[in-house]
Amino acid sequence: MTGHDHESRIGELLNRMTVEEKFGQLQQLAWAWDTGPGGGDTEAAEAAARKGLLGSVLNVVGAGASNALQRIAVEESRLGIPLVFGLDVIHGYHTTFPVPLAQAAAFDPAVTAKDAEVSAREARSNGVHWTFSPMMDVTREPRWGRIAESTGEDPYLTTAYAMAKVRGYQGDDLTAPDRIAACAKHFVAYGGAEGGRDYNTVDVSEQRLRNLYLPPFRAAVGAGAATVMAGFNTISGIPAHAHPHTLTDILKEEWGFDGVVVSDWTGVLELIAHGAAAHEAEAARRSLTAGVDMEMVSTTFADHGRDLLASGALTRERLDDAVARVLRLKLRLGLFESPYVAESAALTAPSAESRAAAREVAGRCVVLLKNDDGLLPLDTSGPRALAVVGPFADSGDLLGTWTLPGAPEAVPVLAGLRAALPDTDIRHAAGVSPEGLDTSGIAEAVAVAEAADAVVLVVGEPPALSGEAAARSELGLPGAQEQLVRAVAGTGTPCVVVLVGGRPLTIGTWADRVPAIVMAWHPGIEAGHAVADVLTGAVVPGGKLPVTFPRTVGQVPLYHNHERTGRPYDPAAPGTKYVSRYLDLDAGPEFVFGHGLSYTTFALDEPRLSRERIGVTELRAGATVEVAVPVRNTGGREGDEVVQLYLQDPAATIAQPVRRLCGFRRVRLAPGEERQVRFTLGADDIGYWTDDPAGEFIVEPGELHLHTGNSSRTRARRTLLIT
Ligand code: BGC
Repeated sequence: MTGHDHESRIGELLNRMTVEEKFGQLQQLAWAWDTGPGGGDTEAAEAAARKGLLGSVLNVVGAGASNALQRIAVEESRLGIPLVFGLDVIHGYHTTFPVPLAQAAAFDPAVTAKDAEVSAREARSNGVHWTFSPMMDVTREPRWGRIAESTGEDPYLTTAYAMAKVRGYQGDDLTAPDRIAACAKHFVAYGGAEGGRDYNTVDVSEQRLRNLYLPPFRAAVGAGAATVMAGFNTISGIPAHAHPHTLTDILKEEWGFDGVVVSDWTGVLELIAHGAAAHEAEAARRSLTAGVDMEMVSTTFADHGRDLLASGALTRERLDDAVARVLRLKLRLGLFESPYVAESAALTAPSAESRAAAREVAGRCVVLLKNDDGLLPLDTSGPRALAVVGPFADSGDLLGTWTLPGAPEAVPVLAGLRAALPDTDIRHAAGVSPEGLDTSGIAEAVAVAEAADAVVLVVGEPPALSGEAAARSELGLPGAQEQLVRAVAGTGTPCVVVLVGGRPLTIGTWADRVPAIVMAWHPGIEAGHAVADVLTGAVVPGGKLPVTFPRTVGQVPLYHNHERTGRPYDPAAPGTKYVSRYLDLDAGPEFVFGHGLSYTTFALDEPRLSRERIGVTELRAGATVEVAVPVRNTGGREGDEVVQLYLQDPAATIAQPVRRLCGFRRVRLAPGEERQVRFTLGADDIGYWTDDPAGEFIVEPGELHLHTGNSSRTRARRTLLIT
């Protein structure tokens, strides 16, 4: 069916639907699997489906359950409109990939496309049509638990990942049996929660909204994202669920989005708690008229819609528009033609292939933070004794936040190392538990470490400490883990720390005691194998940090693309007073954005520009500048380098960030190999959005500085003159 056929079909259906049936299409209820706030209610969903008063259900798990519920809607309701089934398939269905923040560290959007393709195939085969992913909330808040679900602090990196993931889920044809509809969430600025406390206030200027938070959404919509989810936050005083400027003016009108805006879980009802509505009817009115099309779990649209329509508070046009969007999604997914899924073809477990993909991706996400004296890769020649200690050494709890019921546990690091090093004498002791304060096991861990030639110490944060509603006020290792690190490091046995976690952790109090640190994040189902691949050198690490690692939590928020101040701190003049810094702490982070080492070395030469000046009018007409960066592998092993390009606009009408990432490319080079990495810059990269609510994007004349390097601590600079 063509888009034109869809529209005429929508028109016919709208003519036949009662007002109740229309509001029914705007209702999404939860299946009983979910027992969270509000919970799921299978019977209520079935009853509503039977009456034709339900548009969608979330959290139905399994092909059989999805078919059974669909049959009720299609065969028993008056109009037989199929349901659309949604689920949070965030980084895997059966095959859990690394958490999204880890994926961002690969600096390679192909990894997220791979996750999306595997997830879509597994999910759709089980009757899921729609995932509530990708999350594209740029965030500067490591305290915020949902940073694990994000792709970090940079809008350019997040945009690249958002587009790749949308395409990976959706492909070219949503009717295909291995594709699902994506959902760009959370619209918008949810990652700006004050203090990192989930659901908290966000007060944001128009220019920051447009330059920082909106770009990934705009690109995702451009890439065809079928749906968008509203955020739980306020945006400068108005809850995102009742925010016509973002939902309607920008998303639907300026960008021409014709898909569904779904609320977040009870997000419409929460307008009352926000203090933005006195009662449910008002919550429904504000949300519907602002541009929310479908209500997740709470039922204010269905309960009060008819009265709102009768009183004129809601127009028939707006109601029909919302319904049309829901029907359009179902038509795009081909649900009217094929409402059911072939139960015999449902994928019920990860395949060898999907596991291999998850392992490769997890390896690409690892960031080598530190490697003094080339301790890594481990010397694996001949049988040796290796201690593998720490609370996460023999743990399968490495999948990360958002995993589905029944998803297989992760391969523990201990098992991965044993498989990789069959001739090595590997001994294990946990030492401490992830969060407990009992230190009585530390002595055993120390003894195991003392008796070994090298020790792999796996510490960090359990998945339960990141994700939704999982903010932390401290970013150090939980429980007694730091004591364990000190004790094990004190043995003098060469020690590699493998850090697991869903956010940047503060490690400054112990990092200098160990020679090597590897950030493995929450690596997913193949965790142990992927970590072993990196530790043994089968895989050369090439990931980079997608977030700044602060020295202490007191520095937060600390991010690479901060705005300039009138009194910047100058590292060349550290004693200067009255500058923007802390008195009790050295300036700068523990590790900068874009940092990551390798087992080989690289040299980046001065960048070359295809031209040194370009006119605003030319740029506006589509002209571009090419930046070529020669990169050479100067070490003895094949490895990956991420060449990074940053832009700095030193004098603009609106003060610009000290640097903006505007290009990155991960390349693999053999020893001695050299390559030119080329970036193309156009008006979209060079200009910026002003504070004008109507949306004004400008390119200003003046000097632009282009910086290149292999982290945000760039090495080389060129000037481009905009005339
Ligand atoms: C989260 C969303 C999620 C939804 C449905 C909410 O609590 O904020 O990201 O998609 O639940 O599970």
